[in-house]
Amino acid sequence: MKFFIDTANLDQIKEAQALGVLDGVTTNPSLMAKEGISGKNNVLKHYVDICNIVTGDVSAEVIATDYDGMIKEGEELSELHDQIVVKLPMTKEGIKACKYFSDRGVKTNVTLVFSAGQALLAAKAGATYVSPFIGRLDDVSTDGLALIEEIRDIYDNYGYDTQILAASVRHTMHIVNCAKIGADVMTGPLSAILGLLKHPLTDIGLAQFLADHAKANQ
Ligand code: G3P
Repeated sequence: MKFFIDTANLDQIKEAQALGVLDGVTTNPSLMAKEGISGKNNVLKHYVDICNIVTGDVSAEVIATDYDGMIKEGEELSELHDQIVVKLPMTKEGIKACKYFSDRGVKTNVTLVFSAGQALLAAKAGATYVSPFIGRLDDVSTDGLALIEEIRDIYDNYGYDTQILAASVRHTMHIVNCAKIGADVMTGPLSAILGLLKHPLTDIGLAQFLADHAKANQ
């Protein structure tokens, strides 16, 4: 499973990259705003800065909601760097724009996906990635992981190449469960990735090894 980090924070992206397990980055307008990045030129520069830290795909989301605006903005984003993936909302206009870009070999990520039907449409439009938001489904007492299972079944039934990018991952067990189901990618916060490192028996075992070594080498 590929690991993407879901942030626009350069320090966190650098930390995840240094761990050696990072395959890409996802951002969205809320994450950019959280870092205080505003103004078109600053936003575009920030995407390039992210691309220069990581080696994999970097999702950059369009703000336009109409087809022509999405095409204009998506083309501008994709020309920034060859790692850029044009992120489009799951709307009628977004699906049309997805088809436009996939026909031209530009990578796409269809975001704000909350149903299997939406994921099926994204695959039909040739999306590179589809982003079901599992945490936000959990927030409204709906099983986010069940949606990943449904999409996995549908894509496997027809051999769609669209990669399931489990998004709105909130914690470590989301990552583990997505891996068990067979999501192609997960994107989550640094804390969820670092959480995979932790087990109390690892800490206890290491302390014991070091204590025994120290005793034997007094
Ligand atoms: O990748 C989508 C993500 O940014 C949304 O996460 O935690 O705001 O639901 P969250």
